[in-house]
Amino acid sequence: MEQYICNRCGKKYDITPTIWRCECSGVLDLVKDTPEIDVAAWNNYPNSVWRYFETMPFAKDSRTWESVTMGEGGSPLIVLDPLEPTTYVKVDYMMPTLSFKDRGAAVLMTKAKELGVSKVIADSSGNAGTAIAAYAARCNIACDIYLSDETSPKKIAQIKAHGATIKEIHGTREDIAAAAQKAVDEEKVFYASHVYNPYFYEGTKTYAYEIYEQLQGAPDSLIIPVGNGTLVLGAYYGFKELFENKLIEKMPKIIAIQAANCAPLVKAYEKDDAIADPVTNQGTLAEGIAIAAPARSKQILEAVRETKGTFIDIKEEEILNSREILADKGFYVEVTTAANYAGYLKYKKEPGEKMIIPLCGAGIKSK
Ligand SMILES: Cc1ncc(COP(=O)(O)O)c(C=O)c1O
Ligand SMILES: [Zn+2]
Repeated sequence: MEQYICNRCGKKYDITPTIWRCECSGVLDLVKDTPEIDVAAWNNYPNSVWRYFETMPFAKDSRTWESVTMGEGGSPLIVLDPLEPTTYVKVDYMMPTLSFKDRGAAVLMTKAKELGVSKVIADSSGNAGTAIAAYAARCNIACDIYLSDETSPKKIAQIKAHGATIKEIHGTREDIAAAAQKAVDEEKVFYASHVYNPYFYEGTKTYAYEIYEQLQGAPDSLIIPVGNGTLVLGAYYGFKELFENKLIEKMPKIIAIQAANCAPLVKAYEKDDAIADPVTNQGTLAEGIAIAAPARSKQILEAVRETKGTFIDIKEEEILNSREILADKGFYVEVTTAANYAGYLKYKKEPGEKMIIPLCGAGIKSK
């Protein structure tokens, strides 16, 4: 049976529908060894995140995922511009709910279904909420999504369409999370949190596995937008598993991008701190990464430092310009993804450096 372990104090817990954090308030990880990767087994599964099912902490004969999947994963890797043949975009908005969060939501909701839960609660800046709402509908599980009253109307419409109950909160992203957590504890339901639940990262790690297959190896570096770190940590865990299985020779550098107006991780990195102090969000168009107090800051900082990567912050005026440049190249992305591309434009690339930029969210979803 799988177990959770506190990242702060090391206490272990059996996995139950209601546990989501340690008594000491630390975040929980899965107790697990590096999976032994059997590359040949991947072809026994559909071309989706489930191709890597055997690397995930589920019973090997579990078939729950088959009734949950909507074909998430397996996104294209494309050379962005023939003049820069070593820069690729991974088109992760080609997903059921149009963002990369479907990778994590499909795996997390598969676990919720296995645990037999009848209701989930989540809080989100938008995309995780749309993904959890869609997969909850797919699993016939009731769902409440807590979000800001300033969330993009199209994301709210998408969540409503899936029959989830919207709890609109006027306040900071942290107020919204606190309201959801209070409801989770009072109602004693499953917290389908992309931040706290480690199964979400078992889904986002497939980002690395796919790149490994598409490039037949690892890239030199990854540009990744970071708020709560679901893609940074997922990519890190995935490449780490490949590295420990000796399938790649080195870890790619993780170059993590934040909006300058809400950049707790950039500040911690620059001060050489182990944990990010909360900041005040000064307001950013990049709603997906406007996280003033990331709960997994210690792990994010460790991952980026271990890969010899770095953090870059982006000013508001740089974001919209980048959205136009990508649209001129044929890719219509949401604002948060444009901020990430702005990070790429700012990064000082080595000649021939093989880089991947995720296009995390579709343009049609944001303002
Ligand atoms: C389009 C997009 N990109 C990036 C992110 C950042 O993900 P995370 O907060 O997990 O770091 C989000 C989060 O909502 C997002 O919606
Ligand atoms: Zn603890």
